[in-house]
Amino acid sequence: MREELCALLPMLAPVRTVEIGGRQLYIGELQGREVILVLSGIGKVAAATTATLLIQTFNASALVFTGVAGGLHADVSVGDVVIAHQLLQHDMDASPIFPRFEVPLTGRSHFDASPALGASLAAAAQRCLGAGAGFVGSPELAAFGIHAPRVHRGLIVSGDRFVSTSTESAALRGLLPAALAVEMEGAALAQVCFDFDRPFAVLRTISDRADDHATVDFQAFIADVASAYTRAIVLDWLAASA
Ligand code: ADE
Repeated sequence: MREELCALLPMLAPVRTVEIGGRQLYIGELQGREVILVLSGIGKVAAATTATLLIQTFNASALVFTGVAGGLHADVSVGDVVIAHQLLQHDMDASPIFPRFEVPLTGRSHFDASPALGASLAAAAQRCLGAGAGFVGSPELAAFGIHAPRVHRGLIVSGDRFVSTSTESAALRGLLPAALAVEMEGAALAQVCFDFDRPFAVLRTISDRADDHATVDFQAFIADVASAYTRAIVLDWLAASA
């Protein structure tokens, strides 16, 4: 989200800006590491295009995606963080020619994120959100009723729709009981990184429960919670993995 990008941009130096395909790429150093910050765009095509650009034009050695997601699993609450272990496109359906959810001609429906990147990001998230960390007990979190945010790792599912009815989220839970969260880009990035054999991670802050209340306070949540989480976690993670 733009708010997450804006939270990190002031820390990037020196900055060179490149514009390609309607995307602004910010190239510079963050915590002593060479990075490119870019908005992926919303939806699977936008995310796949941005991922391909980062790999093919800029030879990115690894991709880290941050954003918000709707919680699907009963254990996942607003304010928690989910880091993908695997990703799947919940709207991929070429049945009966291919099994439901399978990406035709790849033989797979689940795409693995990098275990090493996932583990180091989860450790950073735990340091930032655990007891005693700056966020816990802050008024910004309390305003959303968040008191003890948790970090989860597991399946994230993606599709080109914002899931905002309890009927649809219940249907997804029924079809994909292992899914922790639903969003609109991660599995597309995963498919591109699989094709180009590039390690990647997807980290999502849970902004809603993908139900009839999903749009309530969405913008305020991104500004007050998700962007602060992303800034803290990414900076901590880069510093720790230097
Ligand atoms: N991103 C954040 N919340 C979402 C939802 N409910 N559905 C899809 N993408 C989301």
